Amino acid sequence: MAKSNLNVKTTEKKNNLKVVDKNAVKTTKYSDINLNKWKEYDHVKTDTLWEFPSRLKEGGHSNEYHGNYIPQIAQQIYERYTKKDDVVLDLFFGSGTSGIEAINMNRRCIGVELKDDLAESVSQKFTPKQLVTDVNIICADSASEIAKEKVKARLDIMGKKQAQLLMLHPPYDDIIKFSDKKEDLSNCATTEEFYDLFEKVAKNGYDLLEKGRFACLIIGDKYANSQHIPLGFECMARMNKLGFITKAIIIKDMQGNERAKGKTANLWRYRALAGGFYIFKHEYVMIFQKV
Ligand SMILES: C[S@@+](CC[C@H](N)C(=O)[O-])C[C@H]1O[C@@H](n2cnc3c(N)ncnc32)[C@H](O)[C@@H]1O
Repeated sequence: MAKSNLNVKTTEKKNNLKVVDKNAVKTTKYSDINLNKWKEYDHVKTDTLWEFPSRLKEGGHSNEYHGNYIPQIAQQIYERYTKKDDVVLDLFFGSGTSGIEAINMNRRCIGVELKDDLAESVSQKFTPKQLVTDVNIICADSASEIAKEKVKARLDIMGKKQAQLLMLHPPYDDIIKFSDKKEDLSNCATTEEFYDLFEKVAKNGYDLLEKGRFACLIIGDKYANSQHIPLGFECMARMNKLGFITKAIIIKDMQGNERAKGKTANLWRYRALAGGFYIFKHEYVMIFQKV
């Protein structure tokens, strides 16, 4: 961690001896974690293998949307990379996991979602007051200039020039088809087109994010034509091309976000043995920084 990133507070000099004030708060510019009390943060992960035995269902979360991410990811990422009142920008808002957790953790959120019916129904998860002060939902194509302008306008209302954290949880190419819209990343004719659209969204995210702040990409890979297609690594390369540096590649188990796993497990095992591949048990949580 760069020394210049630290807000080191009070140390007094007593009889020429440095006395550390036990109540002094030492944080980074992007988190409220008190480094002087770092031993009290057992719940905060610092390892790259994330195992969550089940999906968190409390705190306003439900599991009705196929393709949502588990709230524990937002909890970990927000604590490491945001401060109270910071604005999280999620350009694939879906069922609003990022927004719900922002409220639970005293952060704020702007979410952009392509599907108008979804954007409409997700807004019911928040109170009218929250929808004015804490969570802004925009229905738009996140790759577009219009979406970018709308996010800027919302940021302005929230008293910010740029966002403090970027969350990106795109469709994993065509694995789950979210809509028939041509702008939908799950509806691309080829995987190359998916990468190009992803890059456009990520470019908007880059421009809307404050310098020094972080982006989190949640993504899995896919199989097609008897091949492993590494969506995660190619999307990472596109992030790097835009100017983000990679800070971490976290492997997160898929427990809690697979449906009907039991019913199909044997079939997949047979296919793996017959086809010479391994069954995905993980997805990636990749961390980037705009430097
Ligand atoms: C993997 S889901 C995100 C789920 C979300 N993280 C949650 O927890 O509910 C991807 C979402 O991106 C949306 N989407 C796809 N293409 C988009 C685009 N061009 N602009 C905005 N949203 C898009 C889909 O409709 C879908 O809801």
